This record gives sequence, C-alpha cells and structure tokens, in this order.
Amino acid sequence: MVTESRVSPGAGRIPSVVGADLLVPLVDGRQVSHGHLDHAASAPCLTAVQQGVNRLLPWYSSVHRGSGFTSRVTTLAYERARASVRGFVGAGCDASVLFTRNTTDALNLLGRALPPDTVVFRFSADHHAALLPWRDAKVCRLGVPVRPQDAMRVLDDALAITSKGPRLVVVTGVSNVTGEVWPVAELADVAHRHGARVVLDAAQLVPHRRLDAAALEVDWVALSGHKLYAPFGAGALVGAPDWLAAAEPYLAGGGATARVTEDAGLESVTWADLPHRHEAGSPNVVGAHAMAVACDTLSTAGWDAIGEHERVLATRLRQGLAGIPGVRLLGMWGPDHPSVGVVSFTVGDGTGAPADQELVATALAAEHGIGIRYGAFCAHQAVRHLVGGADGSAGALRASVGLGTTAEHVERFLGALADLLRHGPRWTYRRSDEGWCPVPDTRREPEFLG
Ligand SMILES: Cc1ncc(COP(=O)(O)O)c(C=O)c1O
Repeated sequence: MVTESRVSPGAGRIPSVVGADLLVPLVDGRQVSHGHLDHAASAPCLTAVQQGVNRLLPWYSSVHRGSGFTSRVTTLAYERARASVRGFVGAGCDASVLFTRNTTDALNLLGRALPPDTVVFRFSADHHAALLPWRDAKVCRLGVPVRPQDAMRVLDDALAITSKGPRLVVVTGVSNVTGEVWPVAELADVAHRHGARVVLDAAQLVPHRRLDAAALEVDWVALSGHKLYAPFGAGALVGAPDWLAAAEPYLAGGGATARVTEDAGLESVTWADLPHRHEAGSPNVVGAHAMAVACDTLSTAGWDAIGEHERVLATRLRQGLAGIPGVRLLGMWGPDHPSVGVVSFTVGDGTGAPADQELVATALAAEHGIGIRYGAFCAHQAVRHLVGGADGSAGALRASVGLGTTAEHVERFLGALADLLRHGPRWTYRRSDEGWCPVPDTRREPEFLG
C-alpha cells in the first residue's frame, strides 16, 4: 500500500496525517480547515499509522498466550514493535523496551524500580511527569537554570556533595513550555563523571529531532506514542535492564508471573523476567504496533524533511508573534538558543494590561478554527518562573507546529491574534463553570457523537 506524503513549505516530502483536510465549524456558521497548532499536547495520527493499525486489526487476537495463528501474528507484531522503538531512540541492542501507557507511566515505572536510597536530581522547569514520580526517593531540586551552562554547573555541584550511592539525574529533551532544547549530552556527561545514571524525558524531543540515546549516553528514555503521531494510548521506557530486572513488578498480575503456588494459605510467586515482569495484564498491542509504525515512518521520511518543514513554520510563527503588539514570547535562554516549534507567550490588551489568555484561546477556536493551548501546561513552576509575579497564575498561551500544520494555519493564527488583541473578540462570550463560552454557540459536534 502506498502511504501518502506531501511537500512541505521547506523542501522534502513529509508523512501525511489523518484529518489534514478536516473542516471545523465557526460560531458564524462558516466552516474552515482546522488550524492545528497544538501538536505539543497530542499530534494527529499519521496516515501510515492508520493504515498499519488497519492491517493489524483483522489479525488482532490474544498476545503471548493463544495457540491460534492470529495470536502468533499478534505476538509477533507486539514483539517487533519493541525492536522498532529501540531502534528509533537509538538505544543499544541490550536495552529493554517496556511498553507503558505514556511518558508519565514510563517515568513512574522507573520511579518504582529505583534501588533503595537512590537520590534523584531534577530541574524545576520540568514537566510534572518528570518532576513528580520520585516520591519514594530523596529528591534534590535544582531550580530553573538562568543559562544552559548553569544547568551543568548546578548539577555538578549537587552531585559532588551527595554520597556515592545510586543516583539518577532526570533530563528533559525539549521544554514543553518554550520548545528550547536542553543540553542533554552535556548533562549526561556531568552525571556519568559522578557515577550517576540518566533518564531522558523525550516526550517533546522525539517528534522533532532524531534521538541517539547510545551516543548521548542516557541510560533510559521515556516517550509517548500520542505525541509521536500514534494516538493509540501507548508509551515506552527504553534502557538499562539492571534496575528494572531487580525491582518488584510495577503491577502485580497475569503476564508478569513465571510461577504461582499456594502452600498452607500462603502464595508464593516467581516473577517473570523483563520485559513481561513490568507489563502485567493484557497489553495495548494496537498502541504498541501504532507507535512502532510511527517510529518507522518518521525514520524513513528522514529528519531533514521533517525538520525543514517545522523550521519554516516555527520561524514564521516566532517572527510573527514577536511583531504583534502586546505579545511577550516566553523563553528561558534567549531567542538564539536552539528550539523546536513549540512557542509559549502571554498577551496584553495593548495598554499593557494582561488579556484573559483563556478568552483569547476560546475566541481563536470559535471565530477562526484554530486550536492552541492555554494554562500552565503541566509545568507550573516553569510557567510561573517565565511569566513572573502574580501573572504566573494566569498562565500563558502555547502554539506548537508539526506535520499537521500548514503555512496557512500559521498565517491565519497570526492575523487572528493580532486582530483579537487590537479590537477584542468579534463575538460575545460568557464565563461559566466550564470557562469562556461563545454566546450563542451554534457549532455542533460531528454526527458520530450522536
Ligand atoms: C516534556 C513532557 N514530558 C512528559 C509529558 C507527559 O506526557 P504524557 O502525558 O504522554 O504522559 C509531556 C506531555 O505534555 C511533556 O510535554
């Protein structure tokens, strides 16, 4: 089967996404193409992923346990998915690949597998998924580095004064707030000089850049399928087997066991080895397969074409936003620091007073068919640090581009935002418990929702 691709605003051909020609309703009764500027939250499904899932579904059956031929096919698809994901993140052939629900789940799994007395080092700018799963460990909080070099310095200082027991450094690949690329190789180098291990939160990195985990010398990588154009509820933890093999299973149940006996009212369990040890219960075979197809498709398309497509859109997005009165772009390390197409900003009403970020996002969707994100993006400390003062609680707006974004989406967004900030919304809105709502709102959900 031929998988469609389209020519990017840059040069090469990029993989196509499902819903690229989707029309969404506006409050004035018109329909427009959906302006997809929210890839950092969840990316649309690749056409190749949809086709790959369709190919698997007739064969879909029980995994690992059935004797039927369809079980054999399903098991093979699931186990091959591990190889695709391992190759995609550039991990060595001895790296274990554990399927999880998403990045949050993957990091929580690692959090449960830490050896006793592990000290975890993490930066306050991280997403909550990377910030919070270490509650059973001693946590060393490193703040938000003012310059990228400060990240290495504070980590070096902190590692130097902790005891030599097991230590884990949590490194984010790309900030989900600013799109800035963290100095992963340099941080891993500092960590390894002190004998510490490194886990990379790659949720926002892998949709945009090729990852070579072995070259970067990170010990584990956590990623999500739904940010990688495979919205089927799977993620993965990829990396060193030793801590994971020694840990109690993440979930207790079927599939994670090698043998269960009961003697004098006491059960005795021999847990399975990796990867099954941490995958109790029926796994998400379709999700794992979809993620693997996404990995293979992105690798085959090549990062030059994908990177160029995003670079053109992101450059225009940043330049356009910077030229709109009342817009303030958020960044930790300045405009020259390498970044991907994820841009957060706050908006004022032209007089310097902050505008209501949620109302702006609501009006962009209702009047212009544009989807962006508002709030604190599950990175409250980063947003508070960047927005500053009392405004931190008001959050910010985030526009993010990807394979489902076109140049027209970006232009429409920039024009609509400039108009909104200059003249205010052209429709009326009322605040309810659910937030701002257009009044009246004649938009109807698609028929399949009843
Ligand atoms: C940098 C980063 N890490 C982790 C996560 C958590 O990903 P998930 O919600 O798929 O678990 C996100 C989600 O936005 C993210 O942007």
